[in-house]
Amino acid sequence: MNFELTEEHLMIQQAARDFAETELLPGVIERDDKQEFPMAQVRKMGELGFMGLMVDPKYGGAGMDTISYVLAMEEISKIDASASVVMSVNNSLVCWGLETYGTEEQKQKFLVPLAQGKIHGGFCLSEPEAGSDATSQKTTAIDMGDHYLLNGTKNWITNGGTADTFLVIAQTDVEKGHRGINALIVTKDMPGFTVGKKEDKLGIRGSDTHSLMFQDVKVPKENRIGEDGFGFKFAMKVLAGGRIGIAAQALGIASGAYERALAYSKERKAFGTEIKNHQAIAFKLADMATEIEISRLLCLKAAWLKDQGKDYAKMSSMAKLVSSETAMKTTVEAVQVHGGYGYVKEYHVERLMRDAKITQIYEGTSEIQRVVISRDVLKD
Ligand code: CAA
Repeated sequence: MNFELTEEHLMIQQAARDFAETELLPGVIERDDKQEFPMAQVRKMGELGFMGLMVDPKYGGAGMDTISYVLAMEEISKIDASASVVMSVNNSLVCWGLETYGTEEQKQKFLVPLAQGKIHGGFCLSEPEAGSDATSQKTTAIDMGDHYLLNGTKNWITNGGTADTFLVIAQTDVEKGHRGINALIVTKDMPGFTVGKKEDKLGIRGSDTHSLMFQDVKVPKENRIGEDGFGFKFAMKVLAGGRIGIAAQALGIASGAYERALAYSKERKAFGTEIKNHQAIAFKLADMATEIEISRLLCLKAAWLKDQGKDYAKMSSMAKLVSSETAMKTTVEAVQVHGGYGYVKEYHVERLMRDAKITQIYEGTSEIQRVVISRDVLKD
C-alpha cells in the first residue's frame, strides 16, 4: 500500500491552491454577502482545466484521475465553497454522466464546451416533493415519437440561473415506476424552459440555486441519455461519483477552517501566552486534525476505487457522511477558537461554518448516505 501522492498529483494540488489564493480569495466575503456568482473566476477555472478535470482530452478535458479531482476540490473549497460546488456539479454530475453514458454525438455537441469550461451545466433531479425520495418524480417526459414533451418543476438546482446545459430526470411511464424514468439533455434556449426564483441561502451564497420550470418543452429524442427507462439508474450512478466531489468539498471547508484556527492560535495571546499553549485549544486542534485526516483518507479511497474501476458507491457515501459531519464540527470549533472574532465576517470561519451545513444536505442527506451504506453492509 502506497500513500504517496505522485508528482502530477502534487502539481495539480499546488495549482489549485495557487488559483484559490490568488483568484478566489479576493472578494470572497463580498460575493457571499451580495450572493454574487463568481462568473469570471469560474470561466478562469475552465481555462485552467478545472471544469473538466477528469474528461478525456479528446472531449476537451484535462484527462486527470479522480484523486487529482479530490485534491483540487479540497484546495478550492478551503477558500470558496461557492466556486467549488459549480466545479463539482459540472465535473462529477454533468461531464461524467455525459462522457460515461452519452452517445458520440452528445459528447461532441454538449460535453466538449462543458469540459472546456466555456459554459457550465446543471443536474435536475430534486423536485418540490422528490428530494430524498428521488423515485417520486412528478416531472413528466411524454414520448411523442421524435421528441419528449417535458413538463414540471425542479427545485434546488445548483447553477440554475447561470448554466447553459441541464441533465433533467423525468418520468416517462408511471406504470413502470423508477424503470420508467429518463434522463434528458435540456438547453436553456429551448422554448418553454424558464428559470424560477433564486434561493436566499444560509451558505454557499455565491452559488446560484434556482427552481426551474418546464412547460411543453420539446426535447429531441436524440437528447435522451442511454436506453429508454435508464434515467433513474443514471441518476444514482452519477450521484455515487458526485458524492466524492461533495465529500472533497466538505473536506476542504473543514481543512480551510482548521488552517485558520491553527494560525490564529499561534498569534492570539490570552492569560500571558499564545492560546495554542492552552490545552483547551490544543486538544480542539488535535481533534480537528485527526478528523480531517480520516475524511481525507476516505475521500482518497473512494477516488482510488473509482479510478481502479472498482465499486465505489458505498465508499463515496462513507466519505461524504464522515467529511460533511467533520466539516460541520470543525467549522463550529474553528469559530470557538477565534472567540468573538470568529463570529464576524472578516475572519472567514463564520462563512465556512455556514457553508459546511449544505454538505450534510445536498447530493443526499447524511441520512441518505446511511441508507446507502447500511443496505450495502446488510446485503446477503
Ligand atoms: N448504481 C446503480 N443503480 C442503483 C444505484 C447505484 N448506485 N443505487 C440504486 N440503484 C438502482 C437499484 O438497483 C434499483 O434498480 P432495480 O429495481 O432495477 O434493481 C433502483 O435504482 C431503485 O433503487 P432503490 O430501490 O434502492 O430506490 P429507493 O427509492 O429505495 O432509494 C435512494 C434510493 C438511495 C434513497 C435514492 O432515492 C437517493 O439516493 N436519494 C437521494 C437523492 C439525492 O442524492 N438527491 C440529490 C440531488 S442532486 C444535488 O443535490 C446536486 C446539487 O445541487 C449539488
